[in-house]
Amino acid sequence: MKSDPAKKGSGGTLPVAVLGATGYAGVELLRILARHPKVKLTSVTSQQYAGKRVSDVYPSLAGKCDVVLETLEPEKAAAAAEIVFAALPHETSADAVASLLTRDKRVIDLSADFRLHDAKDYDRWYKGHKAPHLLKDAVYGLTELHRKEIAGARLIANPGCYPTGAILGVAPLFAKKLARNNIVVDAKSGTTGAGRSASVDLSFSEVNENFKAYNVGVHRHTPEMEQELSEVAGERVTVLFAPHLVPMNRGILSTIYVELKSAPADGELEKLYSEFYRGEPFVRLVPPGQLPQAKDVRGSNDIAIGLRYDARTSRLVVVTALDNLVKGAAGQAVENMNVMCGWPEDEALRELALVP
Ligand SMILES: NC(=O)c1ccc[n+]([C@@H]2O[C@H](COP(=O)([O-])OP(=O)(O)OC[C@H]3O[C@@H](n4cnc5c(N)ncnc54)[C@H](OP(=O)(O)O)[C@@H]3O)[C@@H](O)[C@H]2O)c1
Repeated sequence: MKSDPAKKGSGGTLPVAVLGATGYAGVELLRILARHPKVKLTSVTSQQYAGKRVSDVYPSLAGKCDVVLETLEPEKAAAAAEIVFAALPHETSADAVASLLTRDKRVIDLSADFRLHDAKDYDRWYKGHKAPHLLKDAVYGLTELHRKEIAGARLIANPGCYPTGAILGVAPLFAKKLARNNIVVDAKSGTTGAGRSASVDLSFSEVNENFKAYNVGVHRHTPEMEQELSEVAGERVTVLFAPHLVPMNRGILSTIYVELKSAPADGELEKLYSEFYRGEPFVRLVPPGQLPQAKDVRGSNDIAIGLRYDARTSRLVVVTALDNLVKGAAGQAVENMNVMCGWPEDEALRELALVP
């Protein structure tokens, strides 16, 4: 029997679980779910902190979320919840998700395990998929492009943080076939994008007062961008992706270079974007002449998009800003849950950006 997303636990709320609750994406989920009036958090997992209350690990949650952490046992989470968020590393996630689906739970997976439709692509960019038979059931959870399929899905592959900024930045251009199918995505991310585990590369002395490119042309988010943009365009789109690490905690600023097939008329692109994103609760088009900054969206589920056409080089520069932990991970995951359950899409996601 299929689980009913509207099935209520005690107090009329829907029981939900977060696997990998102590990671940066997981704790952001807890922050958002704590203010969600329609859900109750019933199960959270961590390997190293099992037995502690999650508020002992993150005192910011004290009094709002004091659930005790348990080691990862998907069957326990399945018994406690109707919807499960998996905020685990890739590969670990695939096994857990497979186990939850056999127990008829609906799953929102924040890892990369179910984002690529073709197992061969996964094998090429990651390594041997652990549950390739489930790929056909997964819906890529970019709400603005796949809202209808998300509503009926049992498995959501929540998009990567970089791909969210890149795909939403140029989707209107490819939908209208205005862009040549070879773009450059030059993106800068804060350090939480790499998760909470300690590493020399992410230590304060390495990151502070530094700014570096990494994995240029070989970053694992490349095939995700190409898959989704090719779908929108109806033809193969290739992406040269150049990610950078900058000394801030949260945020991704993407500068996307696009060659247009012909010079746009005055106001044409602004009109195209405002029609494409009309009614979207989280897409904010910045006024002509302005470009977004990372701080404009920090802590919010918004993505801000700005456009600048450079007639001298015939290139359009699209700049997008989002918070990698909110619109790029946990906020988008809750947005997907809201759609799956038929709730207002912005439930628990109305927080304004933290400025400065
Ligand atoms: N960070 C971002 O901006 C972001 C954005 C989009 C998507 N994502 C994706 O979301 C997922 C989580 O990312 P993150 O940044 O939150 O990572 P993270 O900070 O490293 O957290 C990973 C979480 O998974 C748990 N975990 C690690 N290995 C495990 C294992 N073998 N078995 C069971 N639990 C395990 C950790 O528990 P312990 O308490 O034991 O360490 C922790 O709770 C990843 O797949 C990532 O790609 C992240």
